[in-house]
Amino acid sequence: MNGKFITLEGGDGTGKTTQAELLVSYLNDIGIKAIAVREPGGTELGEKIRQLLRSMTLSISDPLVEVMLFFAARRQLLKHTIWPALEDGAWVVCDRFYDSSLVYQGVMKGCSIEHIMGIKHIVMESFEPDLTMILDLPLKDVLYRIGQRQGDKDPWDNMPPEYHEKVRNSFRKLAGTFSFRCVAVKASGSAEAVQKRLQEVLHKHLIK
Ligand code: TYD
Repeated sequence: MNGKFITLEGGDGTGKTTQAELLVSYLNDIGIKAIAVREPGGTELGEKIRQLLRSMTLSISDPLVEVMLFFAARRQLLKHTIWPALEDGAWVVCDRFYDSSLVYQGVMKGCSIEHIMGIKHIVMESFEPDLTMILDLPLKDVLYRIGQRQGDKDPWDNMPPEYHEKVRNSFRKLAGTFSFRCVAVKASGSAEAVQKRLQEVLHKHLIK
């Protein structure tokens, strides 16, 4: 693969989507062709799976079923968008990737990590992100930002504080486990300040 694959991870309200867009603009500005994609979604089928997962009318009791839906969307996105873009030399910034499955379906919903890694191996083979930046935000900021969201609230925005705290701690732990590709980045402060931190990490790890 000629391009680089960067994933942004972290709990809800940590600002991944804004940062992914800013990062792509920055890469373009310094002469690197780059695109942003998001999970779940990014393809026609992926967006349908996203709607299905968001729908409150549907309650999936087996987290393994949820894992398979996320990985179906992931495979579609890899084959149709990510791998061709990387082959073409572009850099891809992905808003969430398989670390979200490990945290949300694994830690939070109790799906076996071994099962998730097994499916990951089938879906992704040996493919891994070149760099994963985990946006780390203190609980009080997470709750404030979620509270500020207007109109388009996600079902999981209404989860109690302990839920968001556990998500945050799980991502921090994951950054330690996969330290060869993961870096935790402080996500408090202005969007510009966070973006500066991400750019510094990017330069340290991928742009020499
Ligand atoms: P999204 O609206 O993208 O949230 P955010 O903007 O905060 O990233 O919704 C994604 C939700 O899906 C989020 O709560 C995490 C969840 N998710 C999983 O549970 N497993 C996964 O593998 C992925 C990619 C996301």
